[in-house]
Amino acid sequence: MSAKVFYVTTPIYYINASPHVGHGYTTVAADVLCRQKRLSGRQVLFATGTDEHGQKVAQAARDKGTSPREFSDAMADDWRAMWDALHIRYDRFIRTSEADHESLVQKVFERLLKQDDIYLGTYEGFYCVHEETYLTDAEVKDGNCPECGRPVGRMAQDCYHFRTSKYAEPLLEHIEAHPEFIQPETRRNEVVSFIRGGLRDAAVSRRASPWDIPVPGDSAHTIYVWLDALTNYLTVASYLDDDAKFARMWPPDVQLMGKDIITRFHGTLWPAVLMALGVPLPGKLFVHGFWQMGEEKMSKSRANVVSPTELAAELSERSGAKFDVAIDAIRYFLMRQVPFGADGQFSTSAVVRRFNEDLANDLGNLLNRTLPLLERYFDGVVPTPPTRRTDLDAELERVAAAADEAIDRIDFSGALTQIWGLLAAANKYIDQQAPWNLHKAGREQELARVLYGVADTIRAVATLLEPFMPAVAGEIRSQLGAPSDGPLLPITQPEVRLRPGTRTKRGKPIFPRIETTAPASVPGATDDVPREEPMATETIDIEQFAKVDLRVGEIISAERVEGTQNLLSVRVDIGAEERTMVAGIAKQFDPAVLPGTKVVVVANLKPAKIRGVVSQGMILAAGDDIPLALVTLDRDCPNGTRVR
Ligand code: MSP
Repeated sequence: MSAKVFYVTTPIYYINASPHVGHGYTTVAADVLCRQKRLSGRQVLFATGTDEHGQKVAQAARDKGTSPREFSDAMADDWRAMWDALHIRYDRFIRTSEADHESLVQKVFERLLKQDDIYLGTYEGFYCVHEETYLTDAEVKDGNCPECGRPVGRMAQDCYHFRTSKYAEPLLEHIEAHPEFIQPETRRNEVVSFIRGGLRDAAVSRRASPWDIPVPGDSAHTIYVWLDALTNYLTVASYLDDDAKFARMWPPDVQLMGKDIITRFHGTLWPAVLMALGVPLPGKLFVHGFWQMGEEKMSKSRANVVSPTELAAELSERSGAKFDVAIDAIRYFLMRQVPFGADGQFSTSAVVRRFNEDLANDLGNLLNRTLPLLERYFDGVVPTPPTRRTDLDAELERVAAAADEAIDRIDFSGALTQIWGLLAAANKYIDQQAPWNLHKAGREQELARVLYGVADTIRAVATLLEPFMPAVAGEIRSQLGAPSDGPLLPITQPEVRLRPGTRTKRGKPIFPRIETTAPASVPGATDDVPREEPMATETIDIEQFAKVDLRVGEIISAERVEGTQNLLSVRVDIGAEERTMVAGIAKQFDPAVLPGTKVVVVANLKPAKIRGVVSQGMILAAGDDIPLALVTLDRDCPNGTRVR
C-alpha cells in the first residue's frame, strides 16, 4: 500500500463577500506548509474551497437579483482567481454546492440519524444568520449576536439535534492524550473549558430553505450549514465513496483556521461527529489569530478590508517590482510579521517596511552585490571552487534543518527568522572575506572559493524561500542562471548545487526600494543623550525589578545616526509593535550584520530624543564603557516574550 498522503485543509470560505487579507492568511499558510512538504518529497492533498449554502448566500443572491446558483458560481470564480493570483497551489477546490458533497452530507446525516446520534427535538433560542450560529439566552447580548453585534431572531421550532453532549468525555480524553491535537495551547485550554462548561447537543437542521441540502426523508427541514460545511473535509478524502483513496488520505494531518471557529465548531462539533462516525480525528488543528486594523478585526462587516491583489498592485506601482514579486512580498509579510497563532496589526506601511528592510536590503542586496562581483572578476560566470565544501555550508545545513523543523511546527515566522540569519551570515561573509582585496592580492583561488560559496548560498536561499515566495525564488534562480527544474533538496548535495561554468543573468533589481517619508518625532520627547550610570550598590526588591519590562526583540534593521560615530538607530520588532532604539554600539557592531539578531530590550523606558532620533527603549549589551556583546537568546522564541 502506498504511503499516507499529507492532507492539509483551510476552512471553506463564505462566498457572500470577496476574499481579503484575513482569508489570504490561512490559505497562504496552508500553501507554504504544502509546498514545503512537496519539496521534501511527500505527496500532498491541499484542499480549500467555498461554503455556499445558508440564508446569507440566498439573501445576497436575491439582493443582486440573481439565483443562488448563478451567484455562487460567480463568487467561487472570484475566490479561485484570488488564490491563483496569490500563488496558491491547491489540489482540490471544493464547493459545498457540488453534487458529490451534497450527497455525502445526506449520507452522513442519515447514518447519524439511524444510529441515534441525531434525533428530532425542539429548539428554543436565537439564531444569528450572519454567523450561522445558534445562540442561548445567556449568549445573546442586548438582543445582539456576541460575535458580529447584529440583532438576532428568537425562534422555537422542531429541529434535529446532534448528541454532542455524549462525546464530551471522550473528547476531553482525546485532547488530554494528544496535546498536539489543538494548538496553540491557549486555544486548547479554551476548548477544554468550553467542554467542561457543559456541551449542549447541537441543532443541526433549519426550517427548509430551498438553497440548502434537504434532510433525507423530511422535506420540512434542511441541514444546518455548519454540519454541511465541516463534512467538506470528508468529501475531499472520498469518504464513503472510495475506501482505498480514503485510507490513503484520512485523517487530515493539519487543519488550519482562525480563532473564531475553533471552540464551537472545529474543536467540538467536528471531532464529535467524527467520533460518532467512527473515523480517526485529525492530527492537528492549528488556530491562528486575526489581522486587525487598529483595534478591530479585519472583516467585511467592519468595512476595513484590504484586498491582497489591490495591495500588490499598489506595491508594484510604487516600487517598480513585478506584480508577482509584490504578491510574494505580501505572502512574506503575512508569514513573517507575527508568530502564527498571535493577532497582528495590518497596515500598508508595515508591509512597505518589510519590503524595504528585509526584501530590498537583506535579500536584494545580497544578490545585487554578488552578481556584479561575479561579472567583475569572472565575466559573469560561476567560478570553479578549489574544494566542494564552502565556508557557508555548515550554516546552510543548520538553517535548512531548522527552517524545515519550524515549518513542521507551524512556526512560519521562526523559519523565516532562520533564513534571514543565513542572509546576514552571507552578507557578513562577503564583508569579512573582502573579495576586492583577494583580487588585488592576486589570490584567485580564494576569490573563486569565496564567490562560489556566496553564489551557491543564494541558490540555496532560493530553495529555502520557495515555499514562501515561489515567484521570487524563480526570479533569483533565473538571475543566477540556475536551473528551475529538477530536485532542489537536500540543500548541499552536489546534484542541486550551482554548477561551475553557469552563466549568470543579472537583471533589474527584484525588489526596488519604495520611497517613504520619514515618521514624525514623538511629541514631548527630550533631546537628552543617554548617560552611563555607575553600577548600583543598593539592592532592590522583586517588585522594583518587576517594573522593568524586559522583552525579547528582533533587530530588523540598523543604521548609523547621522553625525555620530558610535550611535546606531536600530529598528526592533518586539512582537506587538516595532520600535526605534538608539544604541551606542556602532563602533563594535556592523549595522549590516545586526538584522535577524534576537536581543533583550527594556520596553518601558521613557522615550528620549537622541541626536534627533526618538529612542523608544534600550537594547541590553554586556560591557561597561564599551559594549562587548549583545544580550541574545540561546534558542529562538517569539518576539515580545517577557524576560524575567
Ligand atoms: N464558512 C466558515 C468556515 C467553515 S469551515 C468548515 C467561515 N468562513 S469565513 O469566510 O468567515 O472564513 C473564516 C476564516 O477566514 C477564519 O477562520 C480565518 O481562517 C479567516 N479569516 C477571516 N478574517 C480574518 C482576519 N481578519 N484575520 C485572520 N483570519 C481571518 O467561517
